[in-house]
Amino acid sequence: MERKSRQEAIDDLTLALLYLTRFNDGEGNHFDEMAWKNYNFESIERLDAEGFIIDPKRSRGGTYKYSYLTEKGREKARNLLKELGAMDSDLYERFEFRTIKPGEAEEAALVEQICFPPNEACTKEHMLERIAVAEDLFLVAIDRESGRIAGFLNGIATDEYSFKDDFFVDAGNHKKDGKNVMLLGLDVLPEYRKQGLGRELVYNYCRKEQERGRKRLVLTCLKNKVKMYTGFGFRDLGESASEWGGEKWHEMDITLNYECF
Ligand SMILES: CC(C)(COP(=O)(O)OP(=O)(O)OC[C@H]1O[C@@H](n2cnc3c(N)ncnc32)[C@H](O)[C@@H]1OP(=O)(O)O)[C@@H](O)C(=O)NCCC(=O)NCCS
Repeated sequence: MERKSRQEAIDDLTLALLYLTRFNDGEGNHFDEMAWKNYNFESIERLDAEGFIIDPKRSRGGTYKYSYLTEKGREKARNLLKELGAMDSDLYERFEFRTIKPGEAEEAALVEQICFPPNEACTKEHMLERIAVAEDLFLVAIDRESGRIAGFLNGIATDEYSFKDDFFVDAGNHKKDGKNVMLLGLDVLPEYRKQGLGRELVYNYCRKEQERGRKRLVLTCLKNKVKMYTGFGFRDLGESASEWGGEKWHEMDITLNYECF
């Protein structure tokens, strides 16, 4: 194999780390795919010039601390990780990530019954209503081999700031161009767990909604999932008013865009 120069290696590894390291800045709680402090700034400039990342500091002359991967950069980072035999690089080969189709609503409702206990699961009736009004906020991962749903993440849009249990049961709360998305369920079937699918569903969803100009994603989860969502870049807002399923919930959010439509 042809050896890379030191400069090429720094650029490649910077890109791969940008892809792997998604960071919560602890201030405004950005959803960022970012590099780290004290990196090689020339490398950041080169990657920006080649269209692999966006470095707002460079292009807008401001004081932005973070750099973002472009779609082209993500693609290259995934290929680099594949060459290294590392992590989730085959997820997009095994699964198709897309919006749910109306004919898949019943299957999604079944996945929900498998993933959640009866007091927490969304009923089939509510799931069908939700899909009917907010299909584009229902991201599924389809196993390319079987054609079946392996996992999904869904929500509804609203201008409201905080989570309320009514979002679970009344799809009438959905406002198509709402600023925020209330996430209502992350489901991965048991046989597909612990392979990075849950994480990629969340990242993929964040990217889509960020590009659509949405301001925040909000969710509630049990205490034992707070660490997982913090790792995905969410911020823990403490105990939620939710009493869903007779449990105590934490409210968490992630900011996608500071300036919003
Ligand atoms: C929770 C769930 C979506 C995770 O899906 P997954 O595809 O196995 O998750 P990933 O493989 O992407 O794991 C991502 C990270 O989350 C953590 N994690 C995964 N499952 C977890 C669980 N059940 N509890 C706590 N943390 C968990 C992992 O440690 C992993 O971090 P790491 O990469 O640093 O090790 C899946 O187990 C599921 O559907 N569970 C039932 C429904 C549920 O609880 N949904 C979330 C409700 S808020």
